[in-house]
Amino acid sequence: SKKEILLLKKWGVGLENYLDIYTCPSLSPNHGSDFFHFVLQYSPDHVTRVGDGPDPSEISFPGCSCHSTSCSASMCSCLHYGDNYNNSCIIREGNELDFSKPIFECNTMCHCGELCQNRVIQRGLQFRLEVFKTTKKGWGLRTLEFIPKGRFVCEYAGEILDFKEACRRIQLQTSSDSNYIIAVREHLHDEQVLETFVDPTYIGNVGRFLNHSCEPNLFMAPVRIDSMVPKLALFANCDICANEELTYDYSGRYGNYLPVKYQEKLQKEDSKKPCYCGTKLCTGFLPYDSSLFYKDNTGNSPKEKL
Ligand SMILES: C[S@@+](CC[C@H](N)C(=O)[O-])C[C@H]1O[C@@H](n2cnc3c(N)ncnc32)[C@H](O)[C@@H]1O
Ligand SMILES: [Zn+2]
Ligand SMILES: [Zn+2]
Ligand SMILES: [Zn+2]
Repeated sequence: SKKEILLLKKWGVGLENYLDIYTCPSLSPNHGSDFFHFVLQYSPDHVTRVGDGPDPSEISFPGCSCHSTSCSASMCSCLHYGDNYNNSCIIREGNELDFSKPIFECNTMCHCGELCQNRVIQRGLQFRLEVFKTTKKGWGLRTLEFIPKGRFVCEYAGEILDFKEACRRIQLQTSSDSNYIIAVREHLHDEQVLETFVDPTYIGNVGRFLNHSCEPNLFMAPVRIDSMVPKLALFANCDICANEELTYDYSGRYGNYLPVKYQEKLQKEDSKKPCYCGTKLCTGFLPYDSSLFYKDNTGNSPKEKL
């Protein structure tokens, strides 16, 4: 068969870009020997629509007309908000709010070459990663080599859901199920909220094995390349040593700001799971996006409910 089956130990560089089908451990730690298959592909089928706006998967970008070897903010139309990367490291200046500036990489329509410094996450995985069994958190992901601060580590890829489908899937979960659905909200200048829901439960990549930490070594940023549908990219928050577990903050600190009203809800509602991140600043519980738990959801975006 054309299907490529790999064992966990062999997962590594290029996984996101080249593999079609691979095996992964059962979600339940009690069934460590059970394997199921899931297809690794980026699914453009379900796309969040914001109001009556255009379908974001159908918006593409014109591309820059730079003829230099690499694009820079002074010249390049893709770098309207300033340079995104320096030596493959994401540029983060000033306070945390700057993390949420939109990132557009150069795309297939751009005149610059493959070596352009504004092409980073499109090159795929650059570090060898390994899925391993943690003591209390089920499976986790660690790096087998040193990762410098600012470098792209991996994507959080999965099915792109609309709000209604994300709610439906979340409501089907029981409290013992792992949750993989992530909601990313981008706040636009005109108070519009752009939402992206990604579910790697059935279709996904190694990003689905990332555990939460209250003091994480990765942060997430939405990056757009050829379409308005962002890729959820995880970057190193600090230098990361070989064999360290990779984690990010599920509450979306750094860039994915939840409106204050959601934060209140996060604390009030009861569906709380203990956090075993083991850090000094641990809040004791996993963050939860309770906006996806409205039982009376009509498919309207939560913005309209605030
Ligand atoms: C996206 S999955 C991460 C991979 C998961 N550990 C597995 O075995 O597939 C999210 C789930 O992992 C578990 N998890 C992640 N971070 C955790 C933490 N800090 N403490 C306890 N459980 C955690 C929770 O069950 C959560 O619903
Ligand atoms: Zn370029
Ligand atoms: Zn350019
Ligand atoms: Zn914690």
